[in-house]
Amino acid sequence: MFFSQNRFQRTEHFLIDWIVWNNMILIKLGGSIITNKEKPLSARRKTIDSLSKSLKKIKEPIIIVHGGGSYGHYWSVKYDMHTKERKYDIRGVSIIKNSMIELNKIILDSLLKNKLNPYSLPPTDFMSGNKPISNKIKEVAKISKSGLIPVTYGDALWFGQNKTYILSGDKIMTHFAKILKPRLCIFALNEDGLYSDLKSKKLISELKGNIPLMSENKMDVTGGMTRKVEEAIKISKMGMNVFFVNGKKPERIVAAVKNRDFKGTMFRGKRN
Ligand code: IPE
Repeated sequence: MFFSQNRFQRTEHFLIDWIVWNNMILIKLGGSIITNKEKPLSARRKTIDSLSKSLKKIKEPIIIVHGGGSYGHYWSVKYDMHTKERKYDIRGVSIIKNSMIELNKIILDSLLKNKLNPYSLPPTDFMSGNKPISNKIKEVAKISKSGLIPVTYGDALWFGQNKTYILSGDKIMTHFAKILKPRLCIFALNEDGLYSDLKSKKLISELKGNIPLMSENKMDVTGGMTRKVEEAIKISKMGMNVFFVNGKKPERIVAAVKNRDFKGTMFRGKRN
């Protein structure tokens, strides 16, 4: 099992990863971690700072995707804008986009303050309508290998024919994973991972087979935890390991990267 691997097996596993997969980590910072979802437009600056400090300990190229939390989701609910492509209120589109830039700036400032080199990348840079632009995404990999940290986010996007839609950060994770085949994908959440029982909070360390039942959050226009699990399953089916970890304990992100004393839920990649 994953936890009982000895050092040799771990090294061997790592080498296989390194040869077949891109030496790169994809990290989604969930909106419920970086913002207080109970309070509109409230960033959790201390948590963001401690995330930045932990990310500094990762020595591999990383790409960061962040969610909307009480910024993007708050306005999306107000303007009744969803993931389906439709003719939404253009005022809402502007306001949602503006709020995501504001949240993105808070994250960039924190990374810069902690001596990391973020490279802000709005999704319009690599999306055309609702399709990812493969060449652009491959370029994002090159950017991350240069030492810069691409930072992108869920956003309100133009679709075409006066239609717009909300692209979630979770969907971006799947688009990037498919094209870049990173060694690992990590979702930093507001929980320790997935629980087999919500009352006792019994953590599922590795997910096989059945998906547990999840409660929904009305503030979430992109589907909350259910969407994250769906995207994680898609990514693991493409062969990559996906980790759900508690972003309030950012050292767990580092542990997942180093494959040491990991606490969270792992969706093991099925590599055929
Ligand atoms: C949502 O992105 C973006 C907007 C609502 C504009 P996500 O769906 O990835 O956000 P979180 O992580 O669930 O907050």
